[in-house]
Amino acid sequence: MNWTPSRLPDQTGRRFVITGGTAGLGYFAGEQLARAGATIVIAARNEGRADVAKAAIRARVADARLEYLPVDLSSLESARAAGDRIAEFDRVDGLILNAGTTTGARDRQTSVDGHELTMATNYIGHFALTARAFPALERTPKSRIVGLGSLATLIVPLDPADLQSEHRFGFFRAYGFTKHAVHGFILELDRRLRASGTDVSAVLSHPGYAIDSLTATRGGIVEGGGAGMLLAFGAQGKNRGAAPVVRAATDPAAVSGDFFGPEYLTKGLPVAVTPVASSASPDFGRELWRLSEQWTGERFRP
Ligand SMILES: NC(=O)c1ccc[n+]([C@@H]2O[C@H](COP(=O)([O-])OP(=O)(O)OC[C@H]3O[C@@H](n4cnc5c(N)ncnc54)[C@H](OP(=O)(O)O)[C@@H]3O)[C@@H](O)[C@H]2O)c1
Repeated sequence: MNWTPSRLPDQTGRRFVITGGTAGLGYFAGEQLARAGATIVIAARNEGRADVAKAAIRARVADARLEYLPVDLSSLESARAAGDRIAEFDRVDGLILNAGTTTGARDRQTSVDGHELTMATNYIGHFALTARAFPALERTPKSRIVGLGSLATLIVPLDPADLQSEHRFGFFRAYGFTKHAVHGFILELDRRLRASGTDVSAVLSHPGYAIDSLTATRGGIVEGGGAGMLLAFGAQGKNRGAAPVVRAATDPAAVSGDFFGPEYLTKGLPVAVTPVASSASPDFGRELWRLSEQWTGERFRP
């Protein structure tokens, strides 16, 4: 089935929390969901940037219902506090774990909690936030937790013994590990949710290769400027890259454990795709969960 944001089911009355909703895929997922009537909670570390994102959405969806929730995913204290706030919401239909980064640095950096910084931001903070937020998802019928995976998992072989790059560091290798972790987490979460009998779902998504220069302009957020032939051929804008995320969050036919990505690997409309075997392995998922509870001090038993 073709899926486009313009044919989203009505989302009126539903609430989506989007981490990193101030830029890129997170911003566009929020804009598309708001257009379909949803309330959007922009969970971000900078309120000024969240205000810019809210104004950009309101410029297109005049009656959009938008909220702000402070969170710096690189800090466990902040991720826990945000999760606790989410747990108090009367409903959360979708928790979109989108915020992500690469350090681009030569040397390994650590978070305030002493974890490798990319892993702390892209994964560990999201594990803690989800663990704390879970009660709100549990009391919302058919709610979903959506992870942002990546094609980087095809390029970076998983090394489960060095997830925090303690033995060797390369910023792209470290980034790839964070995305293996997101795959492992969402798929293990799916197995645990099924075993518990809840109707909460865990769904994966990836945007292909989505770049700012091919993205629709949004004042203060992104100035799309066009790209060279090669990039234009192999990549897409983040407005389009958001579609698999939005499908994962809203497709009524999606089931827990599904994975959506672009039909032509790096670009195109969202279709069902298959995760790389290493990060989808139940053995990896089990071990990752044990490590995640150890790293965060959170006991997450859905
Ligand atoms: N673009 C791609 O081709 C691609 C491919 C595969 C997967 N992904 C994944 O998709 C997600 C979004 O990527 P993107 O391309 O949209 O990135 P982006 O344009 O750089 O936006 C990243 C977002 O994450 C937020 N963020 C970064 N560090 C944070 C922190 N410590 N706490 C809270 N928020 C933080 C940023 O907030 P600020 O506004 O405060 O900076 C921003 O809103 C990431 O998880 C990425 O790994 C992207």
